[in-house]
Amino acid sequence: MPTDDAPETWSGVHRGPLRAGEWVRLTDTKGRRHNICLEEGRRFFTNRGSIDHDDLIGRPEGFSITSSAGGEYLVFRPLLSEFVVSMPRGAAVVYPKDAAQIVAMADIFPGARVVEAGVGSGALTCSLLRAVGPHGLVSSYERRPEFAEVARQNVDQFFDGRHPAWKLTVGDLVESLGRSDGDRDIDRVILDMLAPWECVGAVAEALTPGGIVCAYVATTTQLGRTVETIRAHGGFTEPQPWETLVRDWHVEGLAIRPGHKMIGHTGFLVTARRMAPGETVPAKKRRPAPGAYGVDYQGPRPAGLPPTIGEEPFDA
Ligand SMILES: C[S@@+](CC[C@H](N)C(=O)[O-])C[C@H]1O[C@@H](n2cnc3c(N)ncnc32)[C@H](O)[C@@H]1O
Repeated sequence: MPTDDAPETWSGVHRGPLRAGEWVRLTDTKGRRHNICLEEGRRFFTNRGSIDHDDLIGRPEGFSITSSAGGEYLVFRPLLSEFVVSMPRGAAVVYPKDAAQIVAMADIFPGARVVEAGVGSGALTCSLLRAVGPHGLVSSYERRPEFAEVARQNVDQFFDGRHPAWKLTVGDLVESLGRSDGDRDIDRVILDMLAPWECVGAVAEALTPGGIVCAYVATTTQLGRTVETIRAHGGFTEPQPWETLVRDWHVEGLAIRPGHKMIGHTGFLVTARRMAPGETVPAKKRRPAPGAYGVDYQGPRPAGLPPTIGEEPFDA
């Protein structure tokens, strides 16, 4: 259950002195991190001797401690962005930079009714639950029971109990979504899976007018198929695809420059808004690029596109 200091928030944040049963993160002087669950009477062994858990319990976080062989460690509770990249994984997780984009650009708000699939390891679930708060809904679907179990343990660990807004269903989104009465009038749907285009029809049924679908995909072929399927459905606004690149900076005296290392690619995001029943978006004024829907194109075609438009060769 959430701690006494913030019982109503279900934020996953703990305040006050460190307590037995809580997770803390020890970071050494080389930046190596160790997450440990505090237990009275236990000892944490490092390659620089050991640290007694009892020497951490009862202290306010944000201190440095020296192990029995002289190793120095910083002690903090892990942030959500740190927890999700170090927790046990069943499937690949949504990284914090993309989770932040999803929360902002898919407009996840307190009290929102959100459907999510697949749950994977539960990383994005934690961000969604924190954003909707205890009075919202995150209805998560995962078709692999073993991944659902990993997610359940991770999410319960982060929130220190079962978040009141979380509903976890083991099953395929397309088969299960329409069967649940609770999953009507959904504000936002987040898809993180191999084939989000297979879910577009079911998502359109569940979304309220003005609602947002947001898909997270790893490759350009997935991105193309997702965008074209949403476009061809006709009941959504023009899909908006993008990606984010984050570059660290080195700042030391006069040596101020971009960092040497960078994560080159995580995934692409695409969002679109649900139109009201029976409404369609006005036809685009601009013609597709020459060859865009040419003979080599095998995917769905946008609604209302004359059969020959876009079929000119690229060099026409
Ligand atoms: C990349 S993982 C999701 C990671 C998760 N968002 C996280 O941050 O930890 C993709 C998951 O989608 C699940 N999946 C794929 N298609 C699905 C579907 N149609 N319905 C439900 N789950 C699905 C897979 O089993 C897999 O666990």
